[in-house]
Amino acid sequence: MKPDILIIGSSNTDMVIQAERLPAAGETILGGRFFMNPGGKGANQAVAAARLGGHITFIAKTGNDIFGRQSLQLFNAEGINTSHMLSDLENPSGVALITVDKNAENCIVVASGANASLSENDLLPAKTVIENAGIILMQLEIPLETVRFVAQMAAEKGVMVVLNPAPACILPAGLLNQISVITPNEKEAEMLTGIGVDNMESARRAAQKIKDQGVETVIITLGSKGALLFHENEYTHVPGCVVKAIDTTAAGDVFNGALVVALSEGKNMQESTRFACQAAAISVTKLGAQASAPYRKEVDEFRDAGKYPLAIK
Ligand code: RIB
Repeated sequence: MKPDILIIGSSNTDMVIQAERLPAAGETILGGRFFMNPGGKGANQAVAAARLGGHITFIAKTGNDIFGRQSLQLFNAEGINTSHMLSDLENPSGVALITVDKNAENCIVVASGANASLSENDLLPAKTVIENAGIILMQLEIPLETVRFVAQMAAEKGVMVVLNPAPACILPAGLLNQISVITPNEKEAEMLTGIGVDNMESARRAAQKIKDQGVETVIITLGSKGALLFHENEYTHVPGCVVKAIDTTAAGDVFNGALVVALSEGKNMQESTRFACQAAAISVTKLGAQASAPYRKEVDEFRDAGKYPLAIK
């Protein structure tokens, strides 16, 4: 039986406008279509992982409002265990305002709301779930102290923790050596190391510097160029898949959700990174965050169609 995956993180409702280009500071531009869809890095990862076949428990804090109730319904409909979800009576559910341009790039502003009040105390009732998880996946749209608390509890029990350090921020000393796998993108890797990541050589240097801070495995996601895996002192470049991107929102979240599913199935790091690249590639061909997370069948068909990336050392 596959080990259970515990995902702890944010849940938002995304309000998205498609536009020709992203506005500059102080500028108003006329956009195109508007749509709302469920988002939040934690929730996106949970939904992606569930659609890809993982046994998922998701813990997040939403407001006692329509967005929170809708999110809970959606998680249940995806087959996610929501028995430890929390409702905040004081703060509203998280909301993200997103602009997506014609090149599939986006800019996002998040009003964290209830996500910012997910505290260590909130997680005490889930202690057994944390200690018995097969893999734990977290991101940084909840308080850092909460992330650190879970990582510490997990490390004491030898539970694998995957940290997606997004959005980019400076991490407290001592957190990284409780993390098994870290998955920054180029900007987040730069924030963690001070090394500007703009080619494979700088990505390798950044990966080494992150590993030196105590993380076992570093995977730097490189957008359309795939990912650089640094595992057991060996670098592997998993190239990106060739697709027509229309919206890159949540591609990193789908990558992380897919990664933990593959690891929970016993795939090795290279295979898991490749699977994650394939799932993320499919997600950028669709609009929205959770709306773009592929089902397992889609990834299998995509792989069988020969669009999978080959691992190059
Ligand atoms: O990673 C994409 C997500 O970032 C969006 O869904 C938005 O809610 C923000 O959390």
